[in-house]
Amino acid sequence: MPGIIVVGTQWGDEGKGKATDQLGSNVEVVVKFNGGNNAGHTVVVGGEKYALHLLPAGILTPHATPVIGNGVVVDLEALFSEIDLMESRGVDTSRLLVSANAHVIAPYNRLLDQVTEKSLGNKQIGTTGRGIGPTYADKMNRIGVRIQDLLDEEVLRQRVRGALYEKNQLLEVVYRQSPVDPDQVADELLAYADRLRPMVADTSLFVNRALAEGKTVLFEAGQAAMLDIDHGTYPYVTSSNATAGGALTGAGVGPTQISRVVGVTKAYTTRVGEGPFPTELSGAEGDHLRELGGEYGVTTGRPRRVGWFDPLVVRYANRVNGLTDVVLTKLDVLDSYDEIAVCVAYEVDGQTLTEMPMDQGSFARAQPVYQLLPGWKSDTTSVRKFEDLPAAAQDYVLFLEQQIGCRISSIGVGQGREATIIRHELG
Ligand code: GDP
Ligand code: IMO
Ligand code: MG
Repeated sequence: MPGIIVVGTQWGDEGKGKATDQLGSNVEVVVKFNGGNNAGHTVVVGGEKYALHLLPAGILTPHATPVIGNGVVVDLEALFSEIDLMESRGVDTSRLLVSANAHVIAPYNRLLDQVTEKSLGNKQIGTTGRGIGPTYADKMNRIGVRIQDLLDEEVLRQRVRGALYEKNQLLEVVYRQSPVDPDQVADELLAYADRLRPMVADTSLFVNRALAEGKTVLFEAGQAAMLDIDHGTYPYVTSSNATAGGALTGAGVGPTQISRVVGVTKAYTTRVGEGPFPTELSGAEGDHLRELGGEYGVTTGRPRRVGWFDPLVVRYANRVNGLTDVVLTKLDVLDSYDEIAVCVAYEVDGQTLTEMPMDQGSFARAQPVYQLLPGWKSDTTSVRKFEDLPAAAQDYVLFLEQQIGCRISSIGVGQGREATIIRHELG
């Protein structure tokens, strides 16, 4: 079972961290391929809770090599403080490899993320403020700073100067900020160079060699399909490809290496930040589900927007990712409901749609058409076999499976590694 991609199928926070961790025992390499420290993955092992941002969740898998791929944007301060935190908790991070081609989030990118959001006023994206968008913009504009640039002081100083040439005018004239001193930025980044050097690698070569040796490699996504720059609810998206294609370009492997694409799906829906969300629940109903699910952001602490399960979204994610398996999470959160609503269609301008509309305007106006399913009103957290779930819970899972059009291979009934029902082995 060589290459397995794990992706989010909604708006993030589906429980990808737990899914990655769970696949762990058979995995020898874990590659984070997109995003940066905008991600927040919670993994609970033996009652200990770990929050991971920039490090792949696979860091918790003993013996596996964690890799930060070329598609990731790296905040060096965040990287080393996360490494230090993990080490202080007894997690071995010594095998970590960082792609020489990954881009660096410079302090001016963080600043730009924050000032542009502010200037957008009520049109803001609700970003995590970590500098993600401006860093990917620099990458596409060919003025980015890469990890390898830190290994040559002269090159680094030139790259930073080049990046700031236009930005300083933008900062001063448009955003009324003080200009940024390129040498100061370069000094700040260079301070990490010695610590970084031993981790820097041609990670594409490393990963392809591992695959050639028959090792199992897991490609771990940050964010999710609906936050993907190409396939998500643009412009309310992140700035990278969080879908399966992003794993190939973001790690430097070919599609023939991939044997499984696992989509992680919450049994209901959440979203952080702005943008359309047809099945969103407001008021007391929303508050109730948020509390039941503990839906507060791992990265920013923001309360997550919550709503009913939307199969149109997950069916779309199935399509753009080519899923082979779905990992359904947080079924236990719905244990107390009398009835559970699932959206089966959208009403848009008098028309009934059963697939995602082509344009954002229609999606923003979509009104959900719900089918009500009976709740099971019992505690599922200690169930470990599908047949032992209450009949109504089994029916709920089977209904979602039919709606998504992909088999549900595992079902989460709690935060811990062990709180899982396996229907089909994943790796
Ligand atoms: P990620 O960003 O996709 O890795 O997900 P997050 O870690 O941001 O959010 C998912 C949250 O749900 C975390 O707090 C997980 O510990 C928790 N979680 C994952 N699976 C389950 C599950 O099956 N049941 C419950 N109750 N919590 C879960
Ligand atoms: P994980 O990996 C949920 C959202 C932000 C914002 C938008 C753009 O934990 O699932 P950015 O800072 O990336 O430019 O923000 O994307 N966002 C996430 N939402 N989970 C995440 O990661 C997210 N990463 C970014 O809230 O709406
Ligand atoms: Mg998260």
